[in-house]
Amino acid sequence: MNTTLAFDVYGTLVDPMGMSELLQQEAGTEADRVAALWREKQLEFSFRKGLMRVYEDFGTCTRQALRYAMATHKLTLTKAREDELMTAYLSLPAFPDALPALQALKGHYPLYAFSNGSYPALEKVLGHNQLLEQFNGLVSVDDLKTFKPDPAVYTYARRATGAWDNPLCLVSSNAWDVIGARAAGLKAIWVQRDANKVFEDWGIEPTAVINSLSELKDVIENL
Ligand code: LAC
Repeated sequence: MNTTLAFDVYGTLVDPMGMSELLQQEAGTEADRVAALWREKQLEFSFRKGLMRVYEDFGTCTRQALRYAMATHKLTLTKAREDELMTAYLSLPAFPDALPALQALKGHYPLYAFSNGSYPALEKVLGHNQLLEQFNGLVSVDDLKTFKPDPAVYTYARRATGAWDNPLCLVSSNAWDVIGARAAGLKAIWVQRDANKVFEDWGIEPTAVINSLSELKDVIENL
């Protein structure tokens, strides 16, 4: 039976570091560091809110993390500029390999986007990059009011995509997401976009490792 593919969104299909260019206005040469801290804290806040069971959606994590990153770098953030950056986050750029890979897979495998992002945010960022129409559907953790890597969301993704009798395979560049999916019984392919990125040694291995989404079709066919 055909494998259903569930694509992580942020870091896998679209690039959160795409905010760096806009941040140059405030941060100049520090922009990459501010963007990286923003992303790191966005994830940390989602993990903590999930554990604490004080769910607020991923956009709220993103906004609070932006404030933290700017304050840490002693940069001013007016409400108007904060709103502007948050709006820009809804049109993050896609990685160049994302659209061709999805087009090649479309019609051969059921394709889902599966993300910590809320439905409105996913529709905007995927729609902006012509990725939305490649998918059979979207699965957001917002349905459960918790975040990856809570095992409940991976189990929920199987139900939401109808992948009970056939395998569900996560495709993610986030090692923590791959480990979360594997621990919950899914297949999971790690997209190692950066050769220097180390997979965390928890004794829980990815089903396969690829360097680019362009390798995905071949790998899936031979899983
Ligand atoms: C996602 C983020 C967390 O779920 O990468 O799309």
